[in-house]
Amino acid sequence: MSRRLQTNPISDPKLAEQGRRLYEWAANRMTILEKFAAKNRTKKPLAGFKLGLCLHVTKETSVLAMAAKSLGAEIAICSANPLSVQNDVAAFLSSQGIRTFAWRGETKEEYDQCISSVLDTKPDIVTDDGGDLHTAAHKSRTKSIVGGTEETTSGVKRLQSMQRHGKLAYPVIAVNNAHTKHLFDNRYGTGQSTIDGIQRSAGVLFAGKHMVVSGYGWVGKGVAARAKGMGANVTITEVDPVKALEARMDGFDVMKLSEVAPYGDIFVTCTGQTSIIRKEHFVKMKNGAILANAGHFDVEINIQDLHSVADAQPQTVRQDVEEFLVRGRKIYLLAKGRVVNLVAASGNPSEIMALSFANQLLSILHIAENHDMMELKLYDVPEEIDVAVARYALEAMGIKIDRQTEKQKKYQS
Ligand code: ADE
Repeated sequence: MSRRLQTNPISDPKLAEQGRRLYEWAANRMTILEKFAAKNRTKKPLAGFKLGLCLHVTKETSVLAMAAKSLGAEIAICSANPLSVQNDVAAFLSSQGIRTFAWRGETKEEYDQCISSVLDTKPDIVTDDGGDLHTAAHKSRTKSIVGGTEETTSGVKRLQSMQRHGKLAYPVIAVNNAHTKHLFDNRYGTGQSTIDGIQRSAGVLFAGKHMVVSGYGWVGKGVAARAKGMGANVTITEVDPVKALEARMDGFDVMKLSEVAPYGDIFVTCTGQTSIIRKEHFVKMKNGAILANAGHFDVEINIQDLHSVADAQPQTVRQDVEEFLVRGRKIYLLAKGRVVNLVAASGNPSEIMALSFANQLLSILHIAENHDMMELKLYDVPEEIDVAVARYALEAMGIKIDRQTEKQKKYQS
């Protein structure tokens, strides 16, 4: 085990006060969590449960962790990405008695050790973002676990594969599949924060740029819509004919990546797939092209290929921007090809994470109450949770909606 992890598994405990201020800032915009926690607080339904969290350690995650703690849970947390940790937030969580194994810039080995440290606490319920904690747990460390939740599309895909191979060792709720998660977090949250990550790191003008978005799932839709709104000319690349058609009818150009590679100014991958932008594309790109990834894993831009076609070692031109010289042209890689909205910006805004993490909190409560009756399979978030989250979010915005009349109910039945 690294000395770092043994001595001090966070960056700097002195940052706790700044982390507390960020927690309070986010909590003010995430009142839905307090609302659901307050309803349950007297019963302390999570007392006696240990939670193991593998989430991006952000101010929004601190609101989820503190809400779960207020319901009686004992918590250990590590980061879902070695570069996304907000060190002040990690210090705050640690100061609150939450066992925190996270600092920005963990090596791959340290990242794995942090996950292992969370599993060492023998959690009853595990909450993951991307599937690394679930995967590590399934290497013969599932004994204590009665259930889990999963935050993101990439993690749900890994769990579906485990389920198909009969390997799933505890029930998991796919939080990503809730309507009040992916329709909002993936589209409006990641849509905005991806633009934010490109803006903060590269700082380029979007108006008039040719932006190429690979993948037209919910994240791709969000990124494309926001880029268009800022004046970019957007082209979508897809392998799914239905999504490609949808992109076309939403008003975007649709082309093969190999065709559009010479024209793009900014390329953003949003596919969850590996090696989307590779050697054959890099060599066609124009001088000044910018590459960013919005997918969970750093596999969508083939970095090995990029190094292999580079004429020299890359240069860091500013934080989160590396310059590669390819056949005499400069190509810029943002955030080392890691998830740009969390590495070069601070993740999705609190108002969006309020919806996602309300689903997480209520799903954790659901598992605490019902795990004895649950099977070893992937579950969707119960519909009543999804609807309750939407209702409260509308209420928080001061929006009232109509109800069906008795006549309408009869007409439909
Ligand atoms: N995933 C995307 N944005 C996030 C945030 N702000 N906090 C935690 N996880 C996230």
